[in-house]
Order: sequence, then structure tokens, then C-alpha cells
Amino acid sequence: MELNQIHHQLDELFFQHQTELLKGDYLRAKALLKTFEEALLNHMKEEEEILLPLYRERAANIRGGNSDLFNAEHKKILEWLNRIKLRAHRLQKFPDLRTVISLLDDEAHFKKYIEHHTLREDRIFYPEVDRVTTPQEKIALARLLTFSLDPPSDPKCP
Ligand SMILES: [Fe+2]
Ligand SMILES: [Fe+2]
Repeated sequence: MELNQIHHQLDELFFQHQTELLKGDYLRAKALLKTFEEALLNHMKEEEEILLPLYRERAANIRGGNSDLFNAEHKKILEWLNRIKLRAHRLQKFPDLRTVISLLDDEAHFKKYIEHHTLREDRIFYPEVDRVTTPQEKIALARLLTFSLDPPSDPKCP
């Protein structure tokens, strides 16, 4: 299993949230956004606390792969997320199409930003973490990380 598999699952969760939004089920859309938020925050926390220190210590000097950049992007992602949450909250009070469109506009920016961040992680960060860790360390990392939103069927192993 890939350590970054959760990226696809986060995308899927956000897609489900937007689907409910378009269907007009604003309550369900909000609940799915909450699920997405919790999973995303947990994922970024794990990257920051478990993987980034390791990356900072061992990774090669890769153009566009400075560890501070990943941290800064996480902060920006949080800012966008807060903005979206405010709009989603407003939608409960004013459930009209104008508010839905404003929310979708903000979400489009958010998605672009996350897509850019995820792409750099998939292309630079995770391959580099993979390169600088031993097989034993990979097993240990896989145990530490919630790398999938699915409940594990058997003990986590890479
Ligand atoms: Fe990240
Ligand atoms: Fe990530």
C-alpha cells in the first residue's frame, strides 16, 4: 500500500461533499466537509510530526522540495479551509443558489491549491521519504501513519 494513498481518498471525500452540495442536500454536504476536514487535519499533522522531520534530516537538496515550503503550504491550505467553512456555515442560514455558487468558487481555488501541493508531495516528498528509509523503517512508518481512511483489514504493513 502506498503511504500517500490517503491523497486519493481525501479527493474522493471532497468530491462527495460537492456532489451533495449540487444535489441541494446542504446538511449532508456540511457533514461531509467536516469528515474531510478531520481527515485532512490528521493527515497534515502526521506529515508534519512524523514524515517532515525525517525528510528535513535526510532528503537531498531538491529544487522545489524545501521542507519549509511544505509547511507553508499546509498553513495556506488551512486558511482556505477556514474560508470554505465560513461559507458553508452561511449556506445553512441562507440556503440559496447564490451562496452555493460563492462556495463552489472558493472551493475551486482550494482544490487548485491542494492539487498543486499534493502533486509536489507525490512527485518529490513521498518518493524521497521512500528513498531515504530502510525497509524496517518503512514498516514502522506504516504503523504510525493513518495512511488510509479505510479501516485496516489486517495489521498495517507497507
Ligand atoms: Fe501535505
Ligand atoms: Fe499529503
